[in-house]
Amino acid sequence: MCGIVGYIGYKKATPILINGLLRLEYRGYDSAGIATIENNEIVVIKNKGRVNTLANLDGIDKLEGTVGIAHTRWATHGKPSKENSHPHLDNSKSIAVVHNGIIENYHELKKFLTEKGYKFLSTTDSEVIPNLIHYYFNQDSKNDENRLLRAVKNTCKDLKGSYAIEILSIYNKDKMIVARKDSPLVIGRGLKESYIASDIPAILSYTKDFYLLDDNEIVELSKDKIKFYNNELEEFEKPIKSIEWGAISVEKDGYEDFMLKEINEQPRAIRETVGAKLDNGKIEIEGLEFSKEYLESLNKIYIVACGTAMHAGLVAKSTFEKFCKIPVEVDIASEFRYRDPLIDEKTLCIYISQSGETADTIAALKLAKSKGAKTLAITNVIGSSITREADYSIYTHAGPEIAVASTKAYTSQVVLLIIVGMYFAEKLERIDVSILKNLKSDILKLPSQIEEILKSTNQIQEFARKVYKEKDMFFLGRGTDYAVSLEGSLKLKEISYIHSESYAAGELKHGPIALIENGVTVVATMTNPDLVEKSISNIQEVVTRGAKVFVITSEDIKNDGLSWVIKIPKTNTLISPILSVIPMQLFAYYISKEKGLDVDKPRNLAKSVTVE
Ligand code: M6R
Repeated sequence: MCGIVGYIGYKKATPILINGLLRLEYRGYDSAGIATIENNEIVVIKNKGRVNTLANLDGIDKLEGTVGIAHTRWATHGKPSKENSHPHLDNSKSIAVVHNGIIENYHELKKFLTEKGYKFLSTTDSEVIPNLIHYYFNQDSKNDENRLLRAVKNTCKDLKGSYAIEILSIYNKDKMIVARKDSPLVIGRGLKESYIASDIPAILSYTKDFYLLDDNEIVELSKDKIKFYNNELEEFEKPIKSIEWGAISVEKDGYEDFMLKEINEQPRAIRETVGAKLDNGKIEIEGLEFSKEYLESLNKIYIVACGTAMHAGLVAKSTFEKFCKIPVEVDIASEFRYRDPLIDEKTLCIYISQSGETADTIAALKLAKSKGAKTLAITNVIGSSITREADYSIYTHAGPEIAVASTKAYTSQVVLLIIVGMYFAEKLERIDVSILKNLKSDILKLPSQIEEILKSTNQIQEFARKVYKEKDMFFLGRGTDYAVSLEGSLKLKEISYIHSESYAAGELKHGPIALIENGVTVVATMTNPDLVEKSISNIQEVVTRGAKVFVITSEDIKNDGLSWVIKIPKTNTLISPILSVIPMQLFAYYISKEKGLDVDKPRNLAKSVTVE
């Protein structure tokens, strides 16, 4: 879960690399480093700390090279330190490598290289890569222009695990080699220059034309040529893709933090997600074509994802079951992939991932495919790894999400899932069309209803100020209010470091109520008119025991006697989490700000979890 950037062209590489790293910091930010070729020598500057620390290190302003690689790290093997930072050099200092991923057999490779006389300076898995390339380079008796390329090919064959690598070498000073397997890597093409990065937003301000690398591809870049090879070094042509996101969408755009910007972008994101899908008589979703016969044959739907994306699945489960009358199981990808789930050709597996690069989700998808199920990916990133594995891929179109804590991706995932559920329902004809019609009109109102919530955030901020010093909090809800409470609790943990638990309100009496004592904070959500009396009883139970309760409820629900109440506009209970999550996101955000924390880059977390 690191970020890598590269540049080869006619401009000074360093400013481009630093700029790219800053945009990739959400992928990791415990150390950073850079390597360029200066007068026939590789110069490496690196240290622990953030990219801004790197930008101020001695000598960095003297780098003039027009070929360079750079890295921002999220430590997996070896603590953050100068030695463990990338780029890593081989023993002869002729080859520099940055790596994102995990080399699972590095112990074995390190032993092999140590026996051959190589020494290691770091405790990382990555340092074996430049040394192994050097080893193969020396073994090769043919001294032609492809010698380094062959050494990289042989090295890649030996590596087990995942990697996106960039290689600089004095053996080929005007070239760069990159390769990938199970870790994302894109190449942006300019005029007589190329940009390389872990993801598109990092280099979107330089170009809109991208090559999206696939697994086991090796690429040799020079100033004006890009050559693509498979892992046998057979050359092939790769199509270029043009991306529409404007560079402005990856800037803070006047907001204090990306998270706040992204919370405020939700009305627009949802408008983009809905697009024209509900405009005609029947729902149409580009990229999705399921026949009535196929849907009728299904006996189970799995929705599989991690973290926030999994929470989006939990909200949508009710819609699928109610409208399609097909049992739905929502599972965590890292559990699903190892528990031998019951899957056959009558199972549909839906995978949700903002980044489309989450290692567990991709592995869970491959598993379902191997068992004969159809797979549908819902992601925000066009061309991401998951879309290349799935039978069908559809997009949330929420625009780039930079803050580690997911906000607009969640709401747009819920919206898209609900629309997919309605699309299935229309085909299956198992529900009254008027119910679908009403829900369609409720979905279309969501963006303006969110705008309304976003206009009055004072009360949320005030409550956050009141409770930001707490150590523990509880979230309660029933039905879809419980599903969204799980997300509210995760947001709070991620960015405020306050411990919190979310419970189905009916479970309170079965244990957790023992933890409620004077002064404890509870966030209770009740938007379902059919369950309101039960929810109020649960709230009374905690109030009686001295809890401070922050209630999120719908404007049509009576809330007599409760002091901290946020009203959200009335909508269908199936989609109310799309509204009720907004106060929860803001609550977590303001607490984090009160505590003076880094909202966008919370400790220990990375945006895209590309390792297991
Ligand atoms: O990119 P993905 O949607 O696959 O990511 C899944 C989770 O890692 C992600 O939602 C994570 O839980 C976020 N930090 C939540 O804010």
